[in-house]
Amino acid sequence: MYKVVEIPNEILRVTCDPVTKFDKKLRQTVDRLFDTMYEYDGVGVAAPQVNLNQRLAVVHTDDETGPLVLINPEIIETSGTVVGLEGCLSIPGEFGFVKRHETIVVKTQDLKGRTQQVKASGFFARAIQHEIDHLDGVLFTDKLAVPDKGTDQRIVFMGTPTFAVSVLERLLEEGYNVVGVVSQPDKPVGRKRELKPTPVKSVPCATISRCCNLKRCGPIMPISWHSNRT
Ligand code: CO
Repeated sequence: MYKVVEIPNEILRVTCDPVTKFDKKLRQTVDRLFDTMYEYDGVGVAAPQVNLNQRLAVVHTDDETGPLVLINPEIIETSGTVVGLEGCLSIPGEFGFVKRHETIVVKTQDLKGRTQQVKASGFFARAIQHEIDHLDGVLFTDKLAVPDKGTDQRIVFMGTPTFAVSVLERLLEEGYNVVGVVSQPDKPVGRKRELKPTPVKSVPCATISRCCNLKRCGPIMPISWHSNRT
């Protein structure tokens, strides 16, 4: 596997060169990219993230869509937009909302250089767009979006771990009307099994009218934020 480079690093800002040789070396590079992605527990990784200047990336968001190799990819059709939470292996610990196309058709090449088209939607489409951005030196932090600040808009925030704290704090700083926070139940820690609040619950939130946790809000499902790292 490769080592993933982190910001700040020049390679993350270059416009990568097209792949021109569809040989054994390319297949080995793709294998190593997959190994790296699985080892780092990501859902996608692009060549520049492992210090390679090539229009090449791999994505694997779930078993339904399966693993996908992107070689010289191009988005040729889009429809709809959707805002969702993203992270990046090259920007550890940071997460933010990014507006993306909801559905896309991507023209890409396979390992033998044959052109193919892939239709994707939802989180799969988000991951592909995130990886294609990497090939043009664009990071998700360049396109952070926050929900529209409508006067009558109220937000219920759901999250538990430490990195969800930065997102919640940003919403509060920006003056959003966060009316509730849902996080997982307090966990007993230490020898005395004392209940410790989750990181999100520890955010000082004077403006929040009510906090609750999942134990009391039975029907709300826990959210796995970890799958959002690409
Ligand atoms: Co990334």
